[in-house]
Amino acid sequence: MPAAETLSWIGNEAGHLDLIDQTRLPTELVTTSCQTVEDVWQAIKQLKVRGAPAIGIAAAYGICVAIRDLDVQTTSVDELRSKVQQAAKYLATSRPTAVNLFWALNQMTESVNQTADDTTACRKALLSMAKRIHDDDRRMCHAIGSNGAPLIQSAAGVITHCNAGGLATSEYGTALSILFTAHDLGGNFTVYVDETRPLLQGSRLTAWELMQHGVPTKLICDNMAAHVMSQGFVQAVITGADRIASNGDTANKIGTYGLAVLARHHDIPFYVAAPSNTFDLALESGNEIPIEQRDPVEITNGMGRQTAPDDVSVYNPAFDVTPAELITAIVTERGVIAPVTQATIQDLIADPSIT
Ligand code: MRU
Repeated sequence: MPAAETLSWIGNEAGHLDLIDQTRLPTELVTTSCQTVEDVWQAIKQLKVRGAPAIGIAAAYGICVAIRDLDVQTTSVDELRSKVQQAAKYLATSRPTAVNLFWALNQMTESVNQTADDTTACRKALLSMAKRIHDDDRRMCHAIGSNGAPLIQSAAGVITHCNAGGLATSEYGTALSILFTAHDLGGNFTVYVDETRPLLQGSRLTAWELMQHGVPTKLICDNMAAHVMSQGFVQAVITGADRIASNGDTANKIGTYGLAVLARHHDIPFYVAAPSNTFDLALESGNEIPIEQRDPVEITNGMGRQTAPDDVSVYNPAFDVTPAELITAIVTERGVIAPVTQATIQDLIADPSIT
């Protein structure tokens, strides 16, 4: 869990969003302030805030930032709603893969459309909804930790990829929530952290979070995972998710699919941890998940200096899709889905009576 809040709303309806600038970690723990909706868009795009649940929460507060300066005396409800729609459309262009972003924006636009025709009430309702999304995420992350901890309690080693910790969520995380909880319950394991090229979320963020929590941590380069598995060092792999299709195919940080293939080869269980709002039941399979392509510079100049020839052609997908058949179980706040099939997902995620 980070030593500061990953995201926090400061003040009343005319307030602003503060967030940890994750691009500065692990050497500097600095908070940046978002005073305009453009600031929030840039923070998401530039990965100052990143991780599926965290960008959903940031986008929800982004709507509140977009209307913070409205004069409630002179602005009609229709004007406010149209401004909210505009901001939601704009924020939706920041990153395409994590469905939590679109889910949160949808929650916000629905809430303002359902609020009585009063500008002050609408603005209050929007901030309450954003805070509710934020608080619900806290609750879901802790429940994921409790539901998943038994799966790794007896492991001597676990591999994780990218960052699915407190920095990627409200606090505690999804995959890391399971590791923190199992550690707190007395689990005696080492976490092998993939550094996660090209942007090093594993080495910069996950190693930092695990060490702050006192969890034994070993950093490895991504291309060492097969060797680590072949040596018998790990008994589980656990990652987060950015979007899960109705058949269980799961998009997560580039490199996750390779890890799942390696885990299957070595007969090691591969677990995904995600809240229910990471499922996109409208999609039949992972083929329909949009994969973000990012700036080639992240690969050619990622380590603070040029590491590739001038003008080299680059392919830089930020995510890949792990087929459901490679996933042993998906741990959600509602319980554990295993085996991962359309039917088992439907039972747990589509049932409105389970919360
Ligand atoms: O590009 P990022 O850093 O936003 O990618 C994040 C991931 O892939 C995480 O594993 C995922 O969002 C789950 S976070 C709980």
